[in-house]
Amino acid sequence: MGSLINKHVLLGVTGGIAAYKSADLVRRLRDAGAEVRVIMTRSATEFITPLTLQAVSGHPVHQHFLDTSAEAGMGHIELARWADAVLVAPASANFLARLAQGRADDLLSAVCLATEARVAVTPAMNQQMWNNAATQSNLATIKKNAIRIFGPAAGSQACGEVGPGRMLEPVELVTLASELFATGELDGLTVLVTAGPTWEAIDPVRGLTNRSSGKMGYAVAEAAAESGARVILVSGPTSLPDPERVRTLRVESAQEMYDTVHQHAAAADIFIGVAAVADYRPVRAADRKIKKTEETMALELERNPDILASVTALRPAPFTVGFAAETENIEPQARRKLENKNLDLVAANRVGADIGFAADENSLLLVEREGVIELPTQPKTKLARALIHHIAARYRAKNATKVHRLRRP
Ligand code: CTP
Repeated sequence: MGSLINKHVLLGVTGGIAAYKSADLVRRLRDAGAEVRVIMTRSATEFITPLTLQAVSGHPVHQHFLDTSAEAGMGHIELARWADAVLVAPASANFLARLAQGRADDLLSAVCLATEARVAVTPAMNQQMWNNAATQSNLATIKKNAIRIFGPAAGSQACGEVGPGRMLEPVELVTLASELFATGELDGLTVLVTAGPTWEAIDPVRGLTNRSSGKMGYAVAEAAAESGARVILVSGPTSLPDPERVRTLRVESAQEMYDTVHQHAAAADIFIGVAAVADYRPVRAADRKIKKTEETMALELERNPDILASVTALRPAPFTVGFAAETENIEPQARRKLENKNLDLVAANRVGADIGFAADENSLLLVEREGVIELPTQPKTKLARALIHHIAARYRAKNATKVHRLRRP
């Protein structure tokens, strides 16, 4: 099952009497956890005011294409990039025709053309218009272009006729919108993820740690759950809430993370090590708070076990993905880790003062034996979904080869 929590939903409202339901739809999408922005076509404003949708969405409504002030703020390309899903409700017969033709002469059509997000339309029109061969042929084209069509329902219509063409109710649309995110790519698989920093105690109140916020690891765990996997997240200390539909196990030190991972690694199909694990820990943690006595003080450290390398050493080993946070020479460093730890994939990112640990956005360089793929800068939630999509494809390809090898005489 998909979820709308933290999803960016761009709601397109076109001209039709069902536009009166759009305000309720915005409210329900937000109640389900989505952040909603609204684009209205000119004719939609004849049915419901932008002010109403601004009030319920909490953001100004976008109406104009190539308007200098609008484009300077969030123009059509930014809106297209911002969206995780575009839902057009209601979608008029006229709008469906424009979408089928790939037109880009108003803001909503242009955004639908420019976005990589999932797009769904909710037709609402008179039943004759719905049944018309032109509309049906436009719908066939739209479907072929991988745009989802929600409804319409049949029943009595505003025009007094009875038949198909009623817009689905907002409560049904919220469920369908959340299902847009359920890709099913990892159905039936178990994914084990590590996230956050570790805490290596020096004494009861002090310790060694790092600046990892856990945001990327949590986003990866959520994206894997959304793709149908059973997900176990082994997390170091973070301030983040447990992700929905993910079994979260909280640990402190690298050794605890290692032990917890190995309780579950044998059952995992995919292991993704996102945690920033401390490489060293104090040889001894003092039982009591250390008092300042001397001018200098030395802390003796010893190596922590390498969790990732220990997982790839298992037989059979899960499909294993490592992360590499680097300040320079990203690709060669990532390739060194790929080889040294015998990984299937390394997701490398640049860390520095401005980007990386605490930020909400990042980019990734996916380094594999076959080559390199760049996932450009985007919110970590979106980046995590793109990463999971890539891992799912690579996992399937690797297992298909294995089955093929087993079958060969
Ligand atoms: N990792 C791990 N266990 C450790 C250390 C790291 O599982 N004890 C994992 C991290 O979760 C991450 C990857 O290994 O997926 C990072 O690799 P690592 O070689 O530890 O990174 P650096 O510490 O940056 O390595 P180096 O000092 O060699 O550059």
